[in-house]
Amino acid sequence: MNLISIEDLSVRFSTRSECIRAVETVNLDIARGDHVALIGESGCGKTVLGMAVMGLLPKNARIGGAVRYREHDILQAAEPDIQRIRGKEIAMIMQNSANTLNPVKTVGSQIAEPLLIHQILPAKAAHAEAVRLLAAMGFDEPERAAERYPHEFSGGMRERILVAIALACQPDIVIADEPTSGLDAGVKSQILVLIKQQMADRTLFLITHDMGTAYFLCTRIAVMYAGEIVEIGPTHDLLSMPMHPYTQGLLASLPSAGLHPIPGMSPSPAYLPEGCRFCARCPAATDRCSTRHPPLNDVSGTRQVRCFCYD
Ligand SMILES: Nc1ncnc2c1ncn2[C@@H]1O[C@H](COP(=O)(O)OP(=O)(O)O)[C@@H](O)[C@H]1O
Ligand SMILES: [Mg+2]
Repeated sequence: MNLISIEDLSVRFSTRSECIRAVETVNLDIARGDHVALIGESGCGKTVLGMAVMGLLPKNARIGGAVRYREHDILQAAEPDIQRIRGKEIAMIMQNSANTLNPVKTVGSQIAEPLLIHQILPAKAAHAEAVRLLAAMGFDEPERAAERYPHEFSGGMRERILVAIALACQPDIVIADEPTSGLDAGVKSQILVLIKQQMADRTLFLITHDMGTAYFLCTRIAVMYAGEIVEIGPTHDLLSMPMHPYTQGLLASLPSAGLHPIPGMSPSPAYLPEGCRFCARCPAATDRCSTRHPPLNDVSGTRQVRCFCYD
């Protein structure tokens, strides 16, 4: 059964001179226990999609479609209803949030906070739970760590604190938006191992630009390009036999494949081409790709590709 169903989700931002089509007709189901990655280049709409699932889109967003969670449509629900869900049932590790921890509150109180806000535990028990979570996140002296302030910890330890905050209420699903960006390689792999351990029997929606991270943490990958999903499939199938020319390009650009970057740039979300959005960079493009927009087609029960090559 699906825990989250994203149905025909579109998000546009109108500025004075432009209409930015950040996310367009995205359909994605996340089943309980699934570990799904959304992967794509910077600016392709990943964070906007994650924010939509959290019900946190800014006021200037024009939204179409639905994000279904239990009996709710997150996009239509009243703010008090969303507040009861957000952080408790659907939690997010936000992009670049290690520096957004509150500098004047102890780490323990910041981990206990969601437990208090959602009235899951009284103060003393919430503090004890924060200490338990810090121990689970690999802090050697969790009681002492709970009394300290964010600036006393390294970037990697702050990332662990963010994971603890996200897990505090034992949410149904965790959305992790670039959870290791800005960390150096050794720390990054420690955090990925921690996330993998902690998410073993939970549901994860990972947002990343990094194929290695998606491969390590997720069983299914959705590839996003210029606001659209262009390919979805089980991780192993998608990596061993990438079908969309963009996915093929992403894999060829990995160091292990010889670092062959995809030539050109993705189109601006304010000026999207009428045909295939990847057309200008695609080695397989034909005439119709520049005039007709390919649909996302099923190529097998688990695989979908948005490319005329697989008509
Ligand atoms: N509040 C906003 N107002 C206008 N444009 C926005 C807003 N938020 C995001 N965008 C635009 O939407 C597009 C997708 O952004 P984002 O989801 O952050 O990309 P990603 O996370 O994949 O790097 C970008 O072009 C970005 O500039
Ligand atoms: Mg982002």
